Order: sequence, then C-alpha cells, then structure tokens
Amino acid sequence: MAKKEIQNELMEKIVSLCKRRGFIFPGSEIYGGMANSWDYGPLGVEIKNNVKSLWWNRFVHRRDDIVGLDAALIMNPKVWEASGHLKNFSDPLVECAKCHHRFREDMLESELLKKAECPDCGGKLGKPKQFNLMFKTFIGPAEEQANVAYFRPETAQGMFVDFKNVLDTTRKNLPFGIAQIGKAFRNEITPGNFIFRTREFEQMEIEYFIRENEWEKQFELWRKEMHEWMKLLGLEAKHIHELEVSEDKRAHYSKRTIDFEYDFPFGTSELYGLAYRTDFDLSSHAAASGANLKYKDAETNEEFFPHVIEPTWGVDRSVLAALLAAYKEEGEGDAKRVYLKLPIRLAPYKAAVFPLLKNKPELVKKAREVYLSLRKKYFIDWDERGNIGKRYYAQDEIGTPYCITVDFETLENDTVTLRDRDTAKQKRIPIAELDAFFHHEIYS
Ligand code: GAP
Repeated sequence: MAKKEIQNELMEKIVSLCKRRGFIFPGSEIYGGMANSWDYGPLGVEIKNNVKSLWWNRFVHRRDDIVGLDAALIMNPKVWEASGHLKNFSDPLVECAKCHHRFREDMLESELLKKAECPDCGGKLGKPKQFNLMFKTFIGPAEEQANVAYFRPETAQGMFVDFKNVLDTTRKNLPFGIAQIGKAFRNEITPGNFIFRTREFEQMEIEYFIRENEWEKQFELWRKEMHEWMKLLGLEAKHIHELEVSEDKRAHYSKRTIDFEYDFPFGTSELYGLAYRTDFDLSSHAAASGANLKYKDAETNEEFFPHVIEPTWGVDRSVLAALLAAYKEEGEGDAKRVYLKLPIRLAPYKAAVFPLLKNKPELVKKAREVYLSLRKKYFIDWDERGNIGKRYYAQDEIGTPYCITVDFETLENDTVTLRDRDTAKQKRIPIAELDAFFHHEIYS
C-alpha cells in the first residue's frame, strides 16, 4: 500500500477509535452535526486535561519565573484595534461568481488559481478580498456597531493587557513570563482534518518578557524547551520539523517565527509556533490606552517596554499528535491487538483493576478494596465484564498502561498481577507496593 494511503487509513482509524471509545464525538451529532465541531467525551476530556496540567506543571508550577493568568475571553474591542488584529488578522479569499463558494487564495492549487477557476463548479473566481478571521458578537440586546465585540483569536492579548497588574502584584524581575490556557476562536475558511483546524480551539501560551538585547538567546532557550515538551507527548524527533517563517508570511507583530511542524497523516503541518514579538504589543497598548506599560529597572531606574518571546501550543493539536504517535497495531487475525502507547501522564486511566472472576464474591471484594484505595490518588478504571483477555484488549485500546488482576493467589499472599500494556507481560507485585509503583511511574 502506498505511504499516503496508509497514512490516511491511520487518520480514519484514529477518528473511528475516538468515537467508538469515547474520546472525541462529532459536535451536535443528534442534530445532524455541525461542520468541524467536536466534543471531547469522557476519555477525551481526561487526555486533554492531562496535556494541560502537564504543561501548567512544567511551565508555571515548576518555574520561579512564570506566573499564570486566566483572562476574560471577550475583551474590550479596543484591544483588537491596538493589537492590529482588526486590521491584519485576515486571510485572502476568492469567491466563485457562480456557486459563491469562498476559498483561501493561498490554499488553492496554483493551476486553478492561474485560470481563476472554482474547484467546486468550474465557475470564475473573483479577485482576492481580505476576510477578517475574528468572530464578531454584540454585547447587550441591541445589535449595533457600538456594541460590537470579538471572541479572542489568541489568548496572548490577555497577558499584555494585564501586564501591569501582574507586575505590580508579583514583583517579578525580567526575564519573566505570563502563561495562560484557554479557548480561542477563529472563523477559519478551511477548517478540517478532525481536531487539527477548528473554529473553536484551545491554546497554551506564554508571553516571556525580556530585555531587547537578549532576544536571540531567549529564543534559542525556548526552542529547546519546545522540543523537550514534544518528547513528553511521545512524539518522535524524526517527525518534527522546524520551519523558519519568511517575512512575508509572518504575523504582523513578529520579527522572527519558527513553526514546529509535525508529520500528520494529511501532510506535514504546523503543530506549534515560537515568535519574537518585539515590544510591539506592550507599546501599542500603552499608546492606545494611555496606561504606563513600561518596566522600571530597580537598580538603574531605567524605564522601557520589555520585548517578548512567545512560545505557543495548540491543545487540540497536541492531543491529535499524541494520539497519532501512540497508535500501534500488533499481530494478525484473532491475535491482533490495537494499543495506544500513550505516556502514562497523558493516559486517561493510569490502571484498571479486575477481579479474575466476576462470580466469586471474595475476589470481587478484594479487587474493590484495591481499586478504591488506588482511586484516592490516581484515575483508575474498574472492569469485571467478559473474560480477562477481552478486558486487556479493551484497556489497550484506550491506552491504559497497566492492568491489575486480583486472583486466587491474592487471597493467600496479598499480591496481584500487573500487566504492562506495551509488552503485554505480567508480573506479581505486593498490593502494598502498588502506590509507590504508580507514584514512581507517573512523577519520576
Ligand atoms: N498567539 C500566537 C498565535 O496565536 P498561531 O500560530 O496563530 O499563533 C498558535 O496559533 C497555535 O494555536 C498553533 O500553533 C496551533 O497549535 C493552534 N491553532 C491555531 N489555529 C488553530 C485552529 N484553527 N484549530 C486548532 N488549533 C489552532
């Protein structure tokens, strides 16, 4: 089979597994769905929360130089005027004179573009027009221009607008960062590829405030940090590529941008970004609002606008890349098994506990004790349906790293079997050692 077909097949398998096992459902499905909207189901919300808490722990809790923020999603529209989003956050669109479908000019195949031909009906395409990607809404009951507001297209602006509040309340010295996780909205013209490009998505962003003369050094440090992060998701280095974004393609605020691209089944595409935003945002907001957003050096009393390095991560693209990297198939026919080799910190359940036989009350009682005790600290599944092989198979498919079985020997010596998802091998372990085992696996 050609490489492309295998890759497309992989995407189909992931989408189907996500639906079947409760990771990700099509949005508003009972009403026939809503194009490109997706709901995270019981297991999807776990993996998504795990990505976010791993990130928060790594970049906020474990660092002295970064603090968190959770800013409002709908901000004063003046924010978007000052940030340049009202003027510049747009895609060039061409419209077909016959079927009126619109296309992103830069995404049309060049032959069609040369002929100005609509890919859907062959009609004539018009001249490109800029289309702003921000979602507009109205505050209050009157739908008037004076009440227009926008859903934020990036979380970043919250960090700039609150810069002074954070500085005053945390007494941080440069360099320091503000981190935020939250929803962003973009009226994308060509959403698609499952959760890769949607109109509503989540970002994890850091605005890292620095002195201008250290931007290259800090850029380099963050570049390394991003590679370390991708390792934590289980992504292989050979599938990650850096793209130096050329000046004409960079966002209006950026002096340098690197896209971290991943080999997705539908093509190598942007996973994350790293940008040097200069002092564009702070100086623009200071000029537009009249607020003093300068930083005062405590030793020299010098006042200046800090410059900014911005590493940015999409949560949904992280989940998609982690699922794709984790998907494994092994064996043939009846012996075939599918497993998600997710890093334990991302896996929805850290373990599943089973009684060997459902109809033996003494086994069920003991297994419940083990389950309830571990559940106090870790997210653990319980299963007593079917035979043990089927339970293993079901847990493999949702990425549960370990299965714990309480059998007759447990009743004699308080040990259980611990089965490893990736090797399918089992070993016996005292119940008393389970907590230390999981603590080590998850946190070391
Ligand atoms: N604050 C800078 C910024 O927003 P961006 O490259 O436009 O930069 C950052 O977006 C990240 O957000 C991307 O690298 C990607 O992971 C994610 N992202 C952007 N648009 C997205 C969309 N339509 N659907 C899902 N994720 C998206």
